[in-house]
Amino acid sequence: MSKLPQTSSGIVIVGAGLAGLFTALKLSPLPVTVIAAAPIGRGASSAWAQGGIAAAISRGDAPENHARDTIDAGAGIVDEKIALLMASEAPERIKDLLRYGVPFDRDLEGKLAFSREAAHSQPRIVRVKGDMAGRKIMEALIAAVRQTPSITIIESYAAHELIMADGQVSALEAHDITDAKATSTIRIPAWAVVLASGGVGGLFKVTTNPPQACGNGLAMAARAGAIIADAEFVQFHPTGIAGDIDPSPLATEALRGEGALLVNGEGERFMVDVHEDAELAPRDIVARAVFSEIEAGRNAFLDCRKKPGTDFKTKFPQVYSYCVQAGINPENDLIPVVPSAHYHMGGILCDAFGRTTLNGLWVCGEVASSGAHGANRLASNSLLEACVFAARIAEDIATTAPHRIQTGARKILPSKPFRRADEDFETIQHLRTLMSKFTGVIRSQSGLKRILSEVEAHQQQGNESSQIWNILVAARIIIVAALERCESRGAHFRSDFPEPQTQLAHRSYFTLKQINELSHVYLKTP
Ligand code: SIN
Repeated sequence: MSKLPQTSSGIVIVGAGLAGLFTALKLSPLPVTVIAAAPIGRGASSAWAQGGIAAAISRGDAPENHARDTIDAGAGIVDEKIALLMASEAPERIKDLLRYGVPFDRDLEGKLAFSREAAHSQPRIVRVKGDMAGRKIMEALIAAVRQTPSITIIESYAAHELIMADGQVSALEAHDITDAKATSTIRIPAWAVVLASGGVGGLFKVTTNPPQACGNGLAMAARAGAIIADAEFVQFHPTGIAGDIDPSPLATEALRGEGALLVNGEGERFMVDVHEDAELAPRDIVARAVFSEIEAGRNAFLDCRKKPGTDFKTKFPQVYSYCVQAGINPENDLIPVVPSAHYHMGGILCDAFGRTTLNGLWVCGEVASSGAHGANRLASNSLLEACVFAARIAEDIATTAPHRIQTGARKILPSKPFRRADEDFETIQHLRTLMSKFTGVIRSQSGLKRILSEVEAHQQQGNESSQIWNILVAARIIIVAALERCESRGAHFRSDFPEPQTQLAHRSYFTLKQINELSHVYLKTP
């Protein structure tokens, strides 16, 4: 664990995944403090990403094409200006990553190699050694951060509360995760906080995300008054590897791009009857079909025996090693799969510079909702969004910095008690099971109300100074937003409203106050 610094730089970044580290590097030489809920390099979804980064660089491609694919995938509610901005700035951000030393795959002439993924009209994904992009990008960024003296890292402290004073962010409270009862807490003064704390997958029993991604940032910002957008849209990846490993290891979509098939326990290729693109249909459609096979008792499997076949180990080293861990040899055996909570399209509302509705709070990466992803994120756009917005946020903060010279104390001080209790662990596991069941791939009003009453009961007994509180707040936001969207769109599917409604083709926006008011209405009505 890093030694705790005595003072704060005033600019504090929460999270040390791609979004957090890229922002810190882009802010250099401005001094920044990065706080990470795990030792750096661990606990961030970015390092687990098996896809790559989408960028319209190859001959014949253009940012307009990339933006169009992003807009089409987002099922009618992508912010088109944001999608175009992201696609247009992608090539520059790939150059940045190359400068930081990311070893993207090359073709025989030494030029960047581009692969194609579902719903992209062109080959435009840059990868590293097949399925190792996330890991290799993080290794390069961590090395760059270690050589950047303006960046101070506080490892193994988890932020749990944002402090506001006079309508402006003024500090952040955090606790030591190596302290079993979490009684060692600190207050870090800040005039600028960048939340880059990841998504919400950890709220679900079956997820591809690390446990740290449990909606903490979403809840902190909502409690401080920020507007939350599109919270109901959680993407379920169709092919998490089923079994006892938690979180569930991912079997990348690129396997299907290479020809792997989806079959049920009776050996039938069920996607052929579901969509004309079969295994390469949009992610939400494949996830629902896999879910239906499992619900019907037939189970679902990836068949990689013919393709990628014996190339598996060299083309997909990461998935291969996950399979081996799960006791599967993918060259001979079928891989059992299950839809797994993978990515939150919703999050804290932000503009084109990552600014939220709170002064002094910026957001980057999965915790943010910029409008780039709509109701269903296009594959390989998430690492891209993190890089594009990190650069924009750094520019915005650097412009603001000279006007925000702080005269007040910057000392990091011990703070008020906080609670992490063993008995909460059981409650969290129970909640995760209910989230997967009722707020998962297929939702309905009765199921959502059932889990809402469970969340309400736990909140009645709890208090704000505990780890479980942020988890309950984040869960409540997603549940109520899902209750409010009485239609099916992208990743949000309601069995009681199975069709999209034209008049609902817009983003959703809620404050926590509104979520709480709506909760009480739902809880009162039978
Ligand atoms: C995958 O490799 O299947 C996931 C990529 C992504 O979520 O963008």
